[in-house]
Amino acid sequence: MRKKIIAGNWKMNKTPSEAVALVELLKPLVNNPDVDVVFCVPAIDIIPVIEAAKGSNIGVGAENMYYEESGAYTGEISPDMLTDAGCSYVILGHSERRGYFAETNESVNKKVLKAFEHGLIPIICCGESLEQREQGITIDWIRQQVKIAFLGVSADQTKTAIIAYEPIWAIGTGKTATADQAEEVCKAIRSCIGEIYDQETADAIRIQYGGSVNAKTAPELFAMPDIDGGLVGGAALKAEFADIVNYKK
Ligand code: PGA
Repeated sequence: MRKKIIAGNWKMNKTPSEAVALVELLKPLVNNPDVDVVFCVPAIDIIPVIEAAKGSNIGVGAENMYYEESGAYTGEISPDMLTDAGCSYVILGHSERRGYFAETNESVNKKVLKAFEHGLIPIICCGESLEQREQGITIDWIRQQVKIAFLGVSADQTKTAIIAYEPIWAIGTGKTATADQAEEVCKAIRSCIGEIYDQETADAIRIQYGGSVNAKTAPELFAMPDIDGGLVGGAALKAEFADIVNYKK
C-alpha cells in the first residue's frame, strides 16, 4: 500500500519572513499520519523553513538543483548545499523550468542521477501541453520524458522516487484535469516504469498529479488507484493546503 505524498510547490513566492509565517500557520494543521507532507520552497527559504518546521511532520524540499558538485556555475545550487541545509526532496524538471529555463529531458536525467547520489528524493515532473493533448500524443510524450529521466537509475532508487504528472494546460489555470484524465496518464506512467524495471518497482513508485489541485478537487483525484497524492502550487500558499492534506477527513 503506497502512502500518499502531498507536496507544496511554492514557486517564486514568499520571502524568508513570509515563509516562516506560512509554516507557522500550516504546521498545526497538516498533521495527517496517512500522508507524507512536503514543502518545496525557494532556495533562500529552505533554512528558515526547516527551522520553523522543526518538531512537525513537514519534509522540506528545493524546487531545483544543478547536476555538478561545485564550481563556477554562478547562481546555481549544488546537491551538497541542499543536503547540508537539511533538505530531503528536490523538484526536478518542472514544466516552468523546462519552458522558461531551457531544461531538457537530458539535463533532468543528469539531475535525477545526482540527486540519488546524494540521497535526495527527486520529485520528477512530466506533462504535456494543450497542443500535444489535442494532437493525441500525450502518452507517447510522457513515456519519452519518463524513460529519459530514469536512464541509469536503478530499480531500488526508482522505488523511492516520486513522479509528478502535471499537464501544462492545468498548471495555474484553475483548470484541473478530471480524475479520469489524470488517472489515465498516471496509470500509463506506472506501466512505463513496469516496462523499464518490473512490477514490484511499478507498484512501489509514487505518482502525484499536479495542476490546479484544490481542496474541492483533491478527494476525487487522490481516490484514483494510480494517483498517490499531489504537487500543489497556488493552493499551497494558503490555509487551503491543510484541507488538501486532510482531504479524507
Ligand atoms: P498549480 O501549480 O497548483 O498552481 O496549478 C502546480 C505546479 O506547477 O506544481
